Amino acid sequence: MYTYLCCYCMLLLLVIQTPDYFSLQLVLVRFTKYIMDLRTLRFRFQPEQNNFHPSCSVNEQMRPFYGPRNSSILLLLLTFLPLLVIIHLWVCQRWQSVENNSQRLQLPPGSMGWPYIGETLRLYTQNPDTFFATRLKRYGDIFKTHILGCPCVMISSPEAAKSVLVSRAHLFKPTYPPSKEKMIGPQALFFHQGDYHSNLKTLVQSSFHPTRIRDSVPEIQRIVLSFLSAWEKCTTINTLREMKRYAFEVAMISAFGSSSKQEVEMEGIKQLYLQLEKGYNSMPLDLPGTPFHRAMKARNLLNETLRKLIDKRRQAGVGGGLLGVLLAAASSKGHSHNLSDSQIADNIIGVIFAAHDTTASILTWILKYLHDNKHLLEAVKKEQEEVRCKILQENRELTWSDTRLMAFTTRVIKETLRSASILSFTFREAVEDLEFEGYFIPKGWKVLPLFRTIHHSPDLYSHPEKFDPSRFEVPPRPHTFMPFGNGVHSCPGSELAKLEMLILLHHLTITYRWQVVRDEDGIQYGPFPVPKLGLPIRLTPANTQN
Ligand code: HEM
Repeated sequence: MYTYLCCYCMLLLLVIQTPDYFSLQLVLVRFTKYIMDLRTLRFRFQPEQNNFHPSCSVNEQMRPFYGPRNSSILLLLLTFLPLLVIIHLWVCQRWQSVENNSQRLQLPPGSMGWPYIGETLRLYTQNPDTFFATRLKRYGDIFKTHILGCPCVMISSPEAAKSVLVSRAHLFKPTYPPSKEKMIGPQALFFHQGDYHSNLKTLVQSSFHPTRIRDSVPEIQRIVLSFLSAWEKCTTINTLREMKRYAFEVAMISAFGSSSKQEVEMEGIKQLYLQLEKGYNSMPLDLPGTPFHRAMKARNLLNETLRKLIDKRRQAGVGGGLLGVLLAAASSKGHSHNLSDSQIADNIIGVIFAAHDTTASILTWILKYLHDNKHLLEAVKKEQEEVRCKILQENRELTWSDTRLMAFTTRVIKETLRSASILSFTFREAVEDLEFEGYFIPKGWKVLPLFRTIHHSPDLYSHPEKFDPSRFEVPPRPHTFMPFGNGVHSCPGSELAKLEMLILLHHLTITYRWQVVRDEDGIQYGPFPVPKLGLPIRLTPANTQN
């Protein structure tokens, strides 16, 4: 235990000293959880070692932790406590002076928690709904807190969220941990405002516009069918892992075009991207041997491979996918989009990153909700069979127009997006001192519109805890349904994401049934909230069911 605590304190110091607070504090959270899990496991599974007896109360079971041989822990705490108090007082004084400087206005109500750690541990170690609900009740729609090393203002009314994301968006710039920027590529559109962002956004949007993605239906269908036949042969599949593989394949064809399969660089790009991905949530320490270092190495190699591919595509004509759109814009003379190779590369990686875990997490939730609500699964199946009947009568393949007939399935997708709200919030940063809804927000503070809280507000969605696709028979009030964000930085891939879900559900619900193995309630982060263990399922052909 002493070793754990020492490691913990070292980590704490690292967090305090390093500027990438976001990632470091997340590592701290994971480490805390790890220690908590270890303790729980030890008490749960090694009874003899800890004098465990089922009849003991929780406190009695925990007693060994507080025993006399751990008095050194107390010593350590006593050493660190004054230091923490001093830092806390200093930080409070800084915020006080910030407040005084504003002369008229006050900071929003709320608690800044512990020095530097703020309320990070609370947010990430308890159910996020409980965290937000208790603060909403105590402080109202706008409250201040301190998470991931930053003072923050959380907002949970649709009007305030609209103000941050749409009407006053120029005052709130997007903000990400520096290590994430380094890995994805600093020139990816997420990290920018102004002309550079809007020019790029136009190009990305045009690449994922329905008029373009409708042609990718046959290719997505081919990917779906090959995955389904592979899953059928497995006794159990991990839904999240498989959905990630599926979403990754679709992201690759949208980034590089359907014909990219023949290009020799593709396998290398896939392997390097997967290597890079392993480092996304690691401690941002660029030292040999660390996952972050390996990821950065993969990122550099990825740049080289992408540059070679860009050269080749230039010589051969531009080719398909987002890469084709960006290359065409970069080569058209007098065009406002004067993109360099590294800008193109960063945006390709950025889009694969944005398209991949998000879609996979939502697909995992859909399978969970349909599994738990059999009547909805039957209704989806009925709708899909009607579409299939039409396709068979006309002796053709599934098309984009067919997916427009899937109204009920689309409502199931929307309800999943609302209910799961995998992006609980997004981060913005105040670019100057400003007045907001009667409060003062200092320059540099993070402002977080809470999508999840809005989607779960009983004032906006009756019985929000209920999974009920029928609520989308009427469109939601403007700015109250934001699974794909809102305003200038809203998601350009929303139609593609929905399309890949519809095509998968079409084949899955008609042909197969699935049973959740080790069905447990609860969520885990992977990196978005997903059902526990990534939802292991067993797939069986539908016609073998009674
Ligand atoms: C269910 C799947 C998805 C969800 C829930 C989702 C959600 C979001 C959200 C909430 C944002 C806004 C973030 C913010 O305002 O800070 C966003 C941005 C973005 N998404 Fe998605 N997304 C999904 C799938 C996709 C796909 C398939 C693509 C690409 C084809 C994509 C590409 C992007 C990009 C490039 C941005 C940044 C836009 C900008 O900064 O202007 N997303 N996404």
